Amino acid sequence: MNPFSTSTLREIARTHGTPCWAYDAATIRQRIAALKAFDTIRFAQKANSNTHLLRLMRAEGVKVDAVSLGEIERALAAGYVAGGDEIVFTADLFDRATLARVVELKVPVNAGSIDMLHQLGESSPGHRVWLRINPGFGHGHSNKTNTGGEHSKHGIWHSDLADALAAIRQHGLKLVGLHMHIGSGVDYSHLEQVCHAMVELVAKVDMPIEAISAGGGLSIPYRDGDPQIDTAHYFSLWDAARREIAKQQGHAIHLELEPGRYLVAESGVLIAEVRATKQMGGNRFVLVDAGFNELMRPSMYGSFHRIDVLPADDTPRAVQPTVVAGPLCESGDVFTQGEGGVVQTRALPQAKVGDLLVFHDAGAYGASMSSNYNTRPFIPEVLVDAGQVRLVRRRQTVAELLALEQTGA
Ligand code: LLP
Repeated sequence: MNPFSTSTLREIARTHGTPCWAYDAATIRQRIAALKAFDTIRFAQKANSNTHLLRLMRAEGVKVDAVSLGEIERALAAGYVAGGDEIVFTADLFDRATLARVVELKVPVNAGSIDMLHQLGESSPGHRVWLRINPGFGHGHSNKTNTGGEHSKHGIWHSDLADALAAIRQHGLKLVGLHMHIGSGVDYSHLEQVCHAMVELVAKVDMPIEAISAGGGLSIPYRDGDPQIDTAHYFSLWDAARREIAKQQGHAIHLELEPGRYLVAESGVLIAEVRATKQMGGNRFVLVDAGFNELMRPSMYGSFHRIDVLPADDTPRAVQPTVVAGPLCESGDVFTQGEGGVVQTRALPQAKVGDLLVFHDAGAYGASMSSNYNTRPFIPEVLVDAGQVRLVRRRQTVAELLALEQTGA
């Protein structure tokens, strides 16, 4: 999906420079609306934690997940209120500073280890906790995004459930419910397996629970022709599991889900400018001013992002096999590659210096995974809402980066 007209993209590049992220608020609102059947939509802000997007989410009734102290502070800065269930902290461990803040603010915890339950229980008896369970299987668009099974570090192993419940009892913690997230980019057959595992697990919980969480993982159509997920079908599978669990427990059960990618990926693009082109033997390289320090997904997972060329002039452009790469001093800085780092070509209209390249579906795990590698400052983010283009993060300066090292030492 292309949320922006080419004139809007050109206008953003002109005003804010390249590279630059742009997000479309209407697309985010549409994705939220498609999940409204769930009692709670909890945004996994790791996908995109810009506070302006978080504000938009909150205005639409979406709650938020935080996986670090920084993400808790972001949620607060965006107007989320701690203490109730607006913010949940999910992790497999507590660093000391985060534990102290979670206790101070009474942020409910989704615990992925029994150590977390002991550490929390010692300082905050009565604290509300979820148990994140690793059901023993997982699935992901890449091995790096598979969060279940014995090769994954995530969650409390399913057969340790009784020990987790014992820790909850020992410290007088309050169990809210069970949570599972087996990976990103799950399909329906895995989903049925997870729903079934959830029902089986809750049957082993010998105390009342209020809720279950389906985790995140909903895929989006990165490639032309990929299907858009059927959210009604997705809901119906979880709703059936919820009903069975309600029967077991003898009371109504609240159903949450925790998507990141689904809510924001398609709303966002990365706009870059072509700065050099070269023929390297049989390969034509187009080099742009954005690198994997901005959009890391192709280098990290071999992920595919659709790329459009916005020509700077109207000379005819023949389609040709093209390698698209960035400015970093590293050969893996290539946007057209498969898993394992194999450089691939993409059929693109011939791009020239001065053209813009638009990387689609970059609203999730784009800006939030960016780094300052090669001392490249973070780039701006703009949010387009009702035709208005708003700068929601300005470009970082090199001086700001250097200031961190001015320690007086
Ligand atoms: N809940 C938990 C506990 C998670 O660990 C994650 C993602 C989510 C929810 C949201 O998953 P989503 O709905 O976005 O698939 N950087 C990778 C994705 C890593 C996801 C990590 N956890 C990527 O760019 O594809």
